[in-house]
Amino acid sequence: MSKKVLITRIIPAKAYDMLTQAGFEVIVWEGSGPMTQPQLLERAKEANALISLGADKLDKHFFSQCSHLEAIAQFAVGYDNIDVNEATRMKIPVSNTPDVLSDATADVAFGLMIAVSRKMFYLHKSIELGEWKQFEPLKNLGVELAGKTLGVFGMGRIGMVMAQRCRGGFNMNILYHNRTRNSEAEKRYDARYVSFDELLQQSDVLSVHSVLSDETRGLFNKTTFNKMKKNAIFINTSRGGVHNEEDLIEALQNETIWGAGLDVTNPEPMLASNPLLQMPNVSVLPHIGSATTEARNGMARLAAENIIEFYKNGNMVTCVNPGVLTKN
Ligand code: GLV
Repeated sequence: MSKKVLITRIIPAKAYDMLTQAGFEVIVWEGSGPMTQPQLLERAKEANALISLGADKLDKHFFSQCSHLEAIAQFAVGYDNIDVNEATRMKIPVSNTPDVLSDATADVAFGLMIAVSRKMFYLHKSIELGEWKQFEPLKNLGVELAGKTLGVFGMGRIGMVMAQRCRGGFNMNILYHNRTRNSEAEKRYDARYVSFDELLQQSDVLSVHSVLSDETRGLFNKTTFNKMKKNAIFINTSRGGVHNEEDLIEALQNETIWGAGLDVTNPEPMLASNPLLQMPNVSVLPHIGSATTEARNGMARLAAENIIEFYKNGNMVTCVNPGVLTKN
């Protein structure tokens, strides 16, 4: 009997095609939004494997009900929605989709940095409001990025591409803070490893590319914003949970830092009434880091490959808990 794979949202057809050609039965949730938790549990109970998305809550309770699952392929690079410890305890391998979305996500970080530095989103809105009357010698002034210092928090794959863009495009000096040293970034982009405090104190642009974990949750808060430069631009394209949004609003209102560009917010979705949306030096996007045709097709392909490879060879291309595979 063929194995059943549940895909929890409609994703690019590539995944469906690859899985059906490989002999899987594929069930796709075709709702316009994510399933409710009872809907997810009901369907997952019928499946052998899952292609999950960030909005699916695969927590302790989920795994207590679905310990029969044989493999989970997350359609995202981040997997903070999955209790991987619990999956590992149940010997369920979990994969994610790194690399294929690094260019797309770094483009959003790079674009937000430029947009914030020149107040682009705000000024676009002001034209719509009929506020463009004449040339203003002393108004709408931004800051230049050439030769400034970029601080990368989390020098992984996406952080590396951001460093490349900023080094090549603006000849920026690159600092980074990471769990481990990244010698490739040091060699290629003259990136300098610094302590977290030095990163805060020296960055003109501080761009977050870390995972959301117990260590990083709420790490960018009143205390840390207070250590940053007054002219600093804070960029977050990783997870909204890494910053405290109330504290960010206050830091911008008090001019503790200069500006912010967010592709991820806390909470998501951001309310239309959020004061950040009215601030000239702030640009916000609705979590579109990986939203290019190329990246989403790559994510679909990689998620399907992980499932196929697991059933064919007991392996996964990008497994986040590979210890489970070797024990099988
Ligand atoms: C998107 O946020 C991802 O983690 O891929």
